[in-house]
Amino acid sequence: MSQFQKKVELVRSEVIARDVVRLTLNAPEIAAAALPGQFVMIQIAPGKDPLLRRPFSIHQTSSEGTLQILFKVVGRGTELLAHAKVGEQLSLIGPLGKGFVLGEPGNACLVGGGMGIAPMLFLASRFQQLAKQGSAPKVILGARNRDELAPLIGDFKNLGLEVLAATDDGSLGHHGLVTDVLKKINLSPDFTVYSCGPRPMMAAIHHLCLKENIRCQVSVETVMACGMGACLGCAVPLKAGGYAHACSDGPVFEAGELLWSL
Ligand SMILES: Cc1cc2nc3c(=O)[nH]c(=O)nc-3n(C[C@H](O)[C@H](O)[C@H](O)COP(=O)(O)OP(=O)(O)OC[C@H]3O[C@@H](n4cnc5c(N)ncnc54)[C@H](O)[C@@H]3O)c2cc1C
Ligand code: FES
Repeated sequence: MSQFQKKVELVRSEVIARDVVRLTLNAPEIAAAALPGQFVMIQIAPGKDPLLRRPFSIHQTSSEGTLQILFKVVGRGTELLAHAKVGEQLSLIGPLGKGFVLGEPGNACLVGGGMGIAPMLFLASRFQQLAKQGSAPKVILGARNRDELAPLIGDFKNLGLEVLAATDDGSLGHHGLVTDVLKKINLSPDFTVYSCGPRPMMAAIHHLCLKENIRCQVSVETVMACGMGACLGCAVPLKAGGYAHACSDGPVFEAGELLWSL
């Protein structure tokens, strides 16, 4: 698997919603090698503050060689990144980790919650490239409110996909959780659910899929220091005992391999 460390140019910065930013970077080698579910480690600033790179899912790539990330401002690193200027060079390492294992597009159901929607767009566009007529994946997206969700839904619609929406405040789509929507659509066991979002959401999806005998892959987000299997900082407990590294064994896992009670 090819990985690169590259200085890449920031070509676009968009504020999608309050504290939610999308960056478009000119990163042809990384974009060409990337698979849905993989991530990049970004050096936030040229100096030592913050010292550690930050991990971000690959949100979308283009045949022109651009790569996008979508993130929420939650601390110093993301705050600085949100203020990066177009034309600035950022150091990226990637693509990293193991991505989703793609099955039949028509038997795929993508469920993204909050910033877990980020890797779902790349996955959806890869499924659309593979899809035959009439075999589009199902997409369920959830967020706190319309302001956060509506702009992201637009990207999936641009791919020709229908989106089932859920919001915490009921301002768009179902008033409640993505799992309520997933329950309602009654998937058959030949489906695979692909999910990324807050851990309680993924735990609920895992348990639902387990009950219905549906395969489920999840992308987990742990705190990461190196992103390459060297620091042991990203351990995730396994059902069979022991730990896996989210950065090198994941971030995508079969949900049934993970221990969800911790
Ligand atoms: C594989 C992977 C992919 C990711 N993809 C995305 C993405 O596409 N979009 C996005 O918005 N975020 C994503 N994240 C999370 C993102 O890396 C963190 O939000 C970011 O590192 C925070 O940096 P900071 O310096 O702003 O915050 P910090 O100052 O480092 O932390 C601020 C707060 O956020 C918490 N935090 C930091 N990292 C994480 C994490 N990984 N999970 C949960 N809480 C965390 C800290 O504990 C602290 O409470 C991803 C994480 C991983 C591991
Ligand atoms: S982040 Fe260092 S081992 Fe995974």
